[in-house]
Parts: sequence; C-alpha cells; structure tokens
Amino acid sequence: MRKKNVDSIVAGEILAKTLYTQDGRVLLTAGAELRGNFIGRIKLNGISEIFIEDDISEGIVVIDTICEETRQEAKQLIRNLIEGYTFSETLNVGNIREIVYKIIEELLSNEDILLSLSEIRSVDDYTFEHSVHVCILSLITGIDLGFDMVRLRDLGVGALLHDIGKLKVPQEILKKPSQLTVEEFEEIKKHTIYGYEILKDNKQINIASAYIAFGHHERFDGSGYPLQLKGENIHLCARIVAIADVFDALSSNRVYRRKLHINEVVEYITSLSAQHFDKHIVESFVKHVIVYGVGTGVILNTLEKGIVVRLNKALPTRPVIRVIFDKAGKKLTQYYEIDLSTKVNVSIIDYYDFDEYIY
Ligand SMILES: [Fe+2]
Repeated sequence: MRKKNVDSIVAGEILAKTLYTQDGRVLLTAGAELRGNFIGRIKLNGISEIFIEDDISEGIVVIDTICEETRQEAKQLIRNLIEGYTFSETLNVGNIREIVYKIIEELLSNEDILLSLSEIRSVDDYTFEHSVHVCILSLITGIDLGFDMVRLRDLGVGALLHDIGKLKVPQEILKKPSQLTVEEFEEIKKHTIYGYEILKDNKQINIASAYIAFGHHERFDGSGYPLQLKGENIHLCARIVAIADVFDALSSNRVYRRKLHINEVVEYITSLSAQHFDKHIVESFVKHVIVYGVGTGVILNTLEKGIVVRLNKALPTRPVIRVIFDKAGKKLTQYYEIDLSTKVNVSIIDYYDFDEYIY
C-alpha cells in the first residue's frame, strides 16, 4: 500500500485502508474498488489522502501508530465535548483520562515508537484529527523525556484540549477567510487565556493540563503570547505541545496552503530551536521523525526511483527501497530491492511523486 492524493485517484484502484466519516462511521472498507461515486464521497468527507493498493506498492504495509479504533474514540470524545460545551457552557470531559491512558499504553507497547512519529496522519479531517495528533506527538516526546504516567496523562489531556479556548472566540473571526485585523488577531490570541479558564476549575483536569492551553503559543525567546513568557517560565508540557502543534499544522493540508514535506517541517522546527522552541525538547522530538517513511516515493543518488518498503530499526534513515524506475527513467518489468543499510554508497536524495508519471 501507499499514500495517494485523492485528486490523482484513477477509477478502479483499490482502497488499502478503511475510511471513516467525520463522525466516526465507516465510509468505505479496505479492499473496495474505487469508482467515480466513491471518489466523490471521499472528497465530500474532506479526505485528501488515502492509502491504495497497487502493483508498485504490493506487500508494503504502513502500520498505524495508534489503532484506528482508539483514534476514532478520541476524536469522538473531543467532538462530544465541544458540542456539549457549545450547548451548555460546561465542559464535560467524560472519560478523557481513560482515552489518554489507552493512547499511552498503545505507544508504550509499540516497539517501533522510534520510527513512527511522522506516519500518524491517515486522513485529513483537520478539526478533531489535529487535537488527536498533537496529543500523540506530545506523548511520544514525553515518553522520550522519561515522563512518569501521571505527567504523561496530564500532558496528553492538555494536548487534546490545547485549543479548547477557541470555543469562546467568535466563529466569524476564527473562520474569516481574509486577513485578520489587529483587533481580531488580539481576540484569537485570547483562546489561550479562555482555555486556561475553562480547564483550571474542572475537577477532572489537573492544573498542568490547563497550563498547556495557556502556554502553547508562548515562544522560548519571549516572542509568543499571551504573556511573552520566556524559557523555562513556560510550563514544560506547554513547550512540548508548542512543537507538536506547529509540526502537525505544517504537515497537514489546509485550505490556504499545501502541506510541507516532512523534511521541510523538520528543517523549519530545527531552525527555530532555541528561538521559538526549547532546543532540548526539539532534539527529543526530531529523533522520532522519519523523513522517508514506509510507502514514500524516493529518488536515489543513482537516479533510480523507488518506494520505501521497510525501515531498518538501527538505521532509520537508510531503509529498504523497492526500485521501480532505472536510472534512465524506464519502468522496470521486474522490481528489485536495495537495502541502504548495507549499500553505503547509495542514499536517498529526494522525494518522488509516482502519480505524476505512472498514470
Ligand atoms: Fe492554539
């Protein structure tokens, strides 16, 4: 299987992973043949990328960091909590702790945790998916930093709810398609304070989680908001969520821009470490990002083009590649594999988009 942009799907292709609607129902089951009306339905659900099964990616398996069931459960919880708050102005956090514990357990039981941080995005349903991704990214970082279970729980809960204060910002400002005025941006900045206020008195939420809502837009050099806090005056958990929030936003497709490649996001975050972010946490974060994940199209320095088949745990930057095109650009009739961990003179030089050339 490999990831493919919905716009380049060709009728008759086979879906490799089950798709869900935004409210958690099954939209299309893995194995379905994609026909015209299905492709329309996928787009209508705001999904921009899917996994397909084809001959060049046959046998390649992209493993979920967190199982689809848990991911859906977390998304539903956030949805219910937001809808409940909009209706009654009280925050019923339900079993948020149980869900966070479930995510932590799955992460801890995943041997490949080191290898999976950039592969968590399966579809593009930004509103709720973003909260869940920020939670997973933050927890992977917290685990790397040696957090105990209570600290991980508070980190996970705060990460899931980091933008909850946006519920108090007028919708017309949040959704304004044109540039914001200074006053409107000042109002958006207040989502940090609103979030803190919503969470701080909630009996089921620890104050550390409220500090995440408060501090996730503070920047290490004091250039953030709402208080222009600097360095370690920003709560440790908020410093983690700040990185996870930016990473997930830049690696997602948004209405106003295409997502960046993972290497560009890593470059951006690394270049801002010590200015915007805590350098020590950036180091912890970045070592869990795999730039060329399983199923990614790549160009080798030999000018051959192929797909990442699997990662080498000891050398994640040197995976096994299935070569599809030879150096002259001719599609091979018989694909073969190169293990970059043993071929020291061969390396990946860039991404390659197969959909532009094969079909
Ligand atoms: Fe925010």
